[in-house]
Amino acid sequence: MGRTIGITSHLGGVGKTVTTLNIGMSLASMGHSVLLLDGDPLAGLSLAAGQGRRTDRGLYQYLQGSHSLEEIIHTAKDSGLALVRTGVSEPAHIFALEQRAAWEKLWQAVRQLADRYDYVLIDTACGQSSLTTLLLGSADAVVMPLPCRTLAVKSLPLFLQFLLRLRQTIQPDLRFAGAIFSMVDSLNPYEMDIIADLRQSFPASTFFSTVIPLDRAFEKAAAHGVPVGMFREYDDLARGYTDLATELVQRDRKLQNKGGSSEQPDPLF
Ligand SMILES: Nc1ncnc2c1ncn2[C@@H]1O[C@H](COP(=O)(O)OP(=O)(O)O)[C@@H](O)[C@H]1O
Ligand SMILES: [Mg+2]
Repeated sequence: MGRTIGITSHLGGVGKTVTTLNIGMSLASMGHSVLLLDGDPLAGLSLAAGQGRRTDRGLYQYLQGSHSLEEIIHTAKDSGLALVRTGVSEPAHIFALEQRAAWEKLWQAVRQLADRYDYVLIDTACGQSSLTTLLLGSADAVVMPLPCRTLAVKSLPLFLQFLLRLRQTIQPDLRFAGAIFSMVDSLNPYEMDIIADLRQSFPASTFFSTVIPLDRAFEKAAAHGVPVGMFREYDDLARGYTDLATELVQRDRKLQNKGGSSEQPDPLF
């Protein structure tokens, strides 16, 4: 069984989608089989991966019984990355995905996908919608891109509480693999202070050592619908994602080895 990792945050525009795509690409280059699950009805990941906004084949169609799991998996020719969309094109589809009756089937679909790939990376929409809750409820671990902005950091404890509640109520095995400082402007002293303060105040395992720099290369990559590493001139950024992917694999293995016992639940971190 592969591992299912949710890339999530309480905030939008913090790099969830870009992180999912680029870490996915790095994991694939390292020889892992990877499926990207676009958990945002607005299909940001499909667009970032240059796969357009197709809505006629996805989780919704699978749940409706019109398509099999195989039929909703789109595999890219070159990278070998696989992609599944929500298949949502109108509000009623979202309601259908979020219905209590759909929960079990959705959960099973994600677990079945995890049976076929080494890693299923779920790119969620921001916040705590029912769909995000359900998707994270089927994940083994969560990664959170975190911009070094005061309000983002101040609202972090509330989101960690949400993840803890998710663990207590829906997915007892859910673990926090770590936060990744994203869009880091190394010339901004406030941001550097925030990173230093956070690293000092929390256990080392809370934050990935590798950070994602703020760089206009990401806009160029988005415009072409490719991971940033596809451009030779951005080799350094691609190396950063290889480091992040390596760290993610190591962190996730550690979380698995920690295990838990029925008398003593293991900690979120
Ligand atoms: N490290 C970065 N530096 C500069 N721009 C970035 C970076 N990461 C993402 N972006 C850009 O910021 C926007 C939001 O990123 P995205 O990954 O879609 O965020 P989210 O999924 O959290 O809403 C996109 O236009 C993306 O190209
Ligand atoms: Mg997104």
